[in-house]
Amino acid sequence: MFWNHVDSQGTELCCVGLKPLWADIYGITYRGLEAHVPMEVWRTFLNHALTAATEQKAGKVMMRLEQKGLAPQIAVELKRLGFVHKLERVEFKTPLADLQGEEGTPLTWKTAAELKWSDRQIADLLLKVVEGDPEDDLDGDPIKYIQDWLNDPELTCGLDCVHVGFMKDKIAALVVPQVDLKNGWSRLAYMGVHPDFRGLSLGRWVHRHGFAALREQGGTSYHGGTSSLNVRMRRTFEASRCVPYRTLDEWELSLTQEKL
Ligand SMILES: CC(C)(COP(=O)(O)OP(=O)(O)OC[C@H]1O[C@@H](n2cnc3c(N)ncnc32)[C@H](O)[C@@H]1OP(=O)(O)O)[C@@H](O)C(=O)NCCC(=O)NCCS
Repeated sequence: MFWNHVDSQGTELCCVGLKPLWADIYGITYRGLEAHVPMEVWRTFLNHALTAATEQKAGKVMMRLEQKGLAPQIAVELKRLGFVHKLERVEFKTPLADLQGEEGTPLTWKTAAELKWSDRQIADLLLKVVEGDPEDDLDGDPIKYIQDWLNDPELTCGLDCVHVGFMKDKIAALVVPQVDLKNGWSRLAYMGVHPDFRGLSLGRWVHRHGFAALREQGGTSYHGGTSSLNVRMRRTFEASRCVPYRTLDEWELSLTQEKL
């Protein structure tokens, strides 16, 4: 659902929306940060989004606010509504045709479908590779977190999208390529190297396998990001020659009542 503000000609100036992300987590989407729109309009729309989130029984609401235009004023409003600043995020957007192939990789890959893995086995590998990620959104429940890898209403999904990397016969990495087949937009829903294999610059080979898998699925544009604090992943984006796109602040509001 969304709410938009138009000028006298009916042209949209700004728009705020609410959409389910995964499990009971919802995201506030928006357009029009740079339009001349009174803060009162944003305030009203943010309140509409929170009311809708409460009606949907959301546990958490997130907003990734790009650092431009009205963002500083909106940040004040988010704080007033009880949101906390979680992290700064850097994003990259690059045509997949410009990204490297995986010739020469030391890794071999199998999908969770080929391995006949259960949700539990995928979740257990996720719990290992997520160690040390400053952007860990698991909230202690990896099974819930992987549900949009397995059942996504808009992107390719399922056990074929969960790729497990091996070094000789040892599990060394995970990457989850997903594509929006309507327009070729692509993401790696998650990637990580098992802690036993960190420090060997394997991340770039995991990245490259992800690019190859996205191309194979029909992806054309890769959109990725990480916390500004995730130095190793930022280095991996640089090594992959991904093109910097934007910087955002991630805000979060918990709607779950703490029970005593
Ligand atoms: C991000 C990740 C995939 C990178 O894996 P990796 O390739 O094994 O990482 P490395 O330790 O080899 O480091 C990668 C690069 O960062 C550099 N680096 C590591 N620590 C650094 C630091 N503190 N400052 C600067 N550079 C650093 C390394 O030198 C290396 O650069 P190089 O390859 O040019 O020599 C891995 O750390 C991981 O799985 N992290 C947890 C999950 C995660 O954060 N996933 C990303 C979610 S968006």
